[in-house]
Amino acid sequence: MANRNMDLRMAKQNKADEFYTQMVDIELELKHYKDYFRGKTILCNCDDPFESNFFKYFAINFNYLGLKKLITTCYDSSPILGEQLDLFNIWQVKNYESKAYKIEINQVDDYNNDGAVDLVDVEYLLKNDKNTFSVLKGNGDFRSAECIECLKEADIVVTNPPFSFFRDYVVLLHKYNKKYIIIGNINAVQTKDIFPLFQKNELWLGVSIHSGDREFRVPDSYPLNASGTRIDENGYKYIRVKGVRWFTNLDIKERHEFLQLYKNYNENLFPHYFNYDAIDVNKTSDIPCDYFGKMGVPITFLDKYNPDQFEIIGIGSDVEKTMIHTTDGDWIHYIDKETQKIVYTFPYTVTERKIGNGLRISKDGKPTTSPYGRIIIRRKSNEN
Ligand SMILES: C[S@@+](CC[C@H](N)C(=O)[O-])C[C@H]1O[C@@H](n2cnc3c(N)ncnc32)[C@H](O)[C@@H]1O
Repeated sequence: MANRNMDLRMAKQNKADEFYTQMVDIELELKHYKDYFRGKTILCNCDDPFESNFFKYFAINFNYLGLKKLITTCYDSSPILGEQLDLFNIWQVKNYESKAYKIEINQVDDYNNDGAVDLVDVEYLLKNDKNTFSVLKGNGDFRSAECIECLKEADIVVTNPPFSFFRDYVVLLHKYNKKYIIIGNINAVQTKDIFPLFQKNELWLGVSIHSGDREFRVPDSYPLNASGTRIDENGYKYIRVKGVRWFTNLDIKERHEFLQLYKNYNENLFPHYFNYDAIDVNKTSDIPCDYFGKMGVPITFLDKYNPDQFEIIGIGSDVEKTMIHTTDGDWIHYIDKETQKIVYTFPYTVTERKIGNGLRISKDGKPTTSPYGRIIIRRKSNEN
C-alpha cells in the first residue's frame, strides 16, 4: 500500500513537472532583458532541446542577442524526451543507454543563405557539427555534478524548472551566485527558502505576467479531464495554469515604477490586527497614501513591489506577534506578552488549528477573522 501511495504521489509530481512553456510567453518576458544577454553564456538545464522553446528562443536569437554560448541539458526521465519531434532525430540518441544529453552552441550562421538565422540553420548546425552534442554520464538531474559544472560555467540560467523541485532549484542558483530568469508559481513565494530572498531584494517577480492563467503544452499521455484544456490542430495538448509568474534577480526598470496611491487611511476600512501592530489592507491598490506604519497586504503585492517605495518586513504567518498564542486542551488562549495574563480564549476548533499563530483582525478589541496570506510591508518614506 505504501508503495502504491508512493507511485501515485510520484505520478502526480511528474505530471506537474511536465508543463512546456510556450514561445509567446518566453518572448514576452525575455525581451525585457535583451541587454543582459550580450556576451553571456546562457544555460537551460531542464530542457530537452528537441522540445524546449527556451532552447529554440536562444538558438534562433543567438546572434541577435550576441550570446557567447548556449548550453542546454535535459533530464533522462522526461516522458517525452526524443519522442515527439523528429526534427533533431539525427544522432543515435535512442541507442545510448542514457537519454540525458547536452547541447552546446558557440555560433549559429545563416547556413542556407536565406538571409536569416532560423530553426533550419539551427538544425543544420546540429546535424553537421557533432561537437555540439554530448551524452551525459548521469541522468541530467540539475543537481548532479556534471550539471553543476554547466551551472558554474553559465552567466544566466533561463528555464521553467520542475514544479516539484522549484525551491531546491532556486536555492542552488543562489548557492552558485547565478543570475536567472525562471518561470514558476506564485505560491512558491511563501516558502521558507524563497520568501527571505524577496525580503532581502535578492529575488523579485518578472514583468510580463501579473494575473490570470497561462497555457502550457503537456505530454500526449496527459489526461485532459479538467476545464481550461485543449488540443490544437496538430493534436498537441495544452492546459491552463493559474498563479504563474516569472522569478528573476536581473534588475528591470519596471520594478522601479512607483505605485500610485490614492486612498486615505480610515480605521474602519483598514482594521488593525489583534496580535500584531499593523493594519490590514485587503487589496494592493487600496494601500493608503497617508499611512506610514506597518501594513499586511496580499501576496500579489509583489507584482507591484518597488523596493524604492516599500520595504518588506516579513510574512504574516511568521512575524513575531504581540500576543502569546497557546493551546490548552480544547481551548486556545491569547496571552498579553507584557502582563502574561490571558486576554482572550477560543474553543480549539479545526479552523483555529489551521489559523494557528496567524494574523487576526481585531474588532472592538477582540480577535476575529484571519486574513488569507499576508506580507507585512511599510512605506520607505512619506514622500512616495
Ligand atoms: C516544467 S517542465 C519545463 C520544460 C521546459 N523547461 C519548458 O519550459 O518547456 C520541467 C522539466 O524539467 C525536467 N526535470 C524534472 N526533474 C528534473 C531534475 N531533477 N533535473 C533536471 N530536469 C528535471 C522535466 O522532465 C521537465 O522536462
